[in-house]
Amino acid sequence: MNSNEIRQRFLKFFEKREHSIIPSASLVPENDPSVLFNTAGMQPLVPYLLGEKHPSGEKIVGVQKCVRTTDIDEVGDNTHLTFFEMLGNWSLGDYFKEEAINWSYEFLTNKEEGLGLDPSRLYVTVFEGNNDAPRDEESFEIWKAIFEKAGFDPEKRIFFMSAKSNWWSPGENGPCGPDSEMFYDVTGELTNGMTKEEFIQADDEQKIVEIWNDVFMEYEKKDGKVIGKLVQRNVDTGAGLERLTVMMQGKDNVYETDLFESLMAKIKELSSVDNLKSRRIIADHIRSAVFLISDGVVPSNTDAGYILRRIIRRAARHLHLLNVEEGSLINLVNMVIEQYGDIYKNIKEKSEQIKEEIKKEEEKFKKTLGQGLKQFEKISGDISGKDAFVLFSTYGFPIEMTQEIAQEKKLAVDIVGFEEEMKKHQELSQTASAGKFKGGLGGDDENSTKLHTATHMLLAALREVFGPDVYQKGSNITPERLRFDFNYPEKMTPEQLKQVEDIVNQKIQESISVEMKEMAKEEALKVSKTSFDPSKYGDTVKVYSIGDFSIELCGGPHVENTSELGYFKIKKEEASSAGVRRIKAVLE
Ligand code: SER
Repeated sequence: MNSNEIRQRFLKFFEKREHSIIPSASLVPENDPSVLFNTAGMQPLVPYLLGEKHPSGEKIVGVQKCVRTTDIDEVGDNTHLTFFEMLGNWSLGDYFKEEAINWSYEFLTNKEEGLGLDPSRLYVTVFEGNNDAPRDEESFEIWKAIFEKAGFDPEKRIFFMSAKSNWWSPGENGPCGPDSEMFYDVTGELTNGMTKEEFIQADDEQKIVEIWNDVFMEYEKKDGKVIGKLVQRNVDTGAGLERLTVMMQGKDNVYETDLFESLMAKIKELSSVDNLKSRRIIADHIRSAVFLISDGVVPSNTDAGYILRRIIRRAARHLHLLNVEEGSLINLVNMVIEQYGDIYKNIKEKSEQIKEEIKKEEEKFKKTLGQGLKQFEKISGDISGKDAFVLFSTYGFPIEMTQEIAQEKKLAVDIVGFEEEMKKHQELSQTASAGKFKGGLGGDDENSTKLHTATHMLLAALREVFGPDVYQKGSNITPERLRFDFNYPEKMTPEQLKQVEDIVNQKIQESISVEMKEMAKEEALKVSKTSFDPSKYGDTVKVYSIGDFSIELCGGPHVENTSELGYFKIKKEEASSAGVRRIKAVLE
């Protein structure tokens, strides 16, 4: 089944069940300045989930264009994309769990009208309950009836899970609620049912993947806390088209599906260097660039325009890496326009402008890319803030690109130093717009500093929970979040995650001052609790301590007192490589 047919079947299935089809809203939210892009199908519907009447009625269905950039540095692997389409059906105060769950199951398994998936490969989760909302027995009973009817043991198919996975909200404010998630066994070998432990392990090993989420949105969140019920009970469902397509076409990853196949083949044909990851980055980024421009974004140094600039320039660098002939980018852009022009009319209507903007941006960057790369080669050792600033201001390298190249060369980039340079430049230039570089930079150094201190606290907390053999395996900080890799052989349980979060928050609340001492490396290694590669430090080192909770060798900078950090929250825990786990966390 090709992707077009999946889209069509989904819309038709719900249209037949009295839903009105609505077109995708723009990728750029019209009335919500708090987010740069729509990241889920429900986002443009927030006013209607809160009670306003939708002009198309109470039952609607659609395919929403989404852009998510939080995992942009992971693009190139099997699963992450910056642009994707989300299929969704919504009840705005109309039907609730019974219909939503039954329709989800029917669409997934029905051969004539739906996807015709084998029900023995399906598993589901439901919400286990907490102080905000009761255990979702109702959804459990609905699923139980479905599985029993299909001849399966419900106990081995339906699992109660905590709010960490089964409570969905678009952010800290707005409509939210418990959800029921559907999973598909991609191996085809897990058809006999599982225990909850086996299910969690299969999920961690990506033997099963989440394919659809039914959110029962009857609650409201304010500043991160559930404050009560909404005026109406809603259903918000979401299924990623790309993931469904991978599954329906029995592929290993999205780049092998009809959504990317010809684009990937073309990039390969044009390249004289074989690098799959670069081909994937180029394909993903071109697609996002086309869609963003079709929704009115133009490359710039701020906000959405900056994201667009970043992805076009990153695509250009990877084309350069693959030794693709000059001027080829536009052929690739044409292919994307061709592929989506009939599905999203504004792509066709704006095709000339899309080509023009991408061409202009690529040409501008190409003038300095080669020299910038040479400049990069001249730098010996880690990249200082000044180096990164020169690459940015003279050669047009977005800081994220400098970080990416540095990472390839196993060098570090002094981000805080870079931000200081940006600030200096901003003060010097004294123009209102210069240096305003949101979406990653400028004015955000304070957040990075806080997250840096939080990273030390996270490691200390992990060592309290798992013992002193846990070490840092990698760390990456943006102003929005920290990412931390450490050695541990298995997936952390929700209880362990909570324990780690609680320890960090407890230490934040204790208002401990963060002290820095310079000492000889020998001496420092004796007091430091973390033996993180000392060879990269000079003879005299800085040691940062947070009471006796955390003592680490580090270049800094850090906050003065833990009380400055706010609330520490783990957003994700996943495998990074064999024996290494990755945590993403934020400060709220
Ligand atoms: N909003 C929910 C999600 O993004 C369901 O669509 O998962």
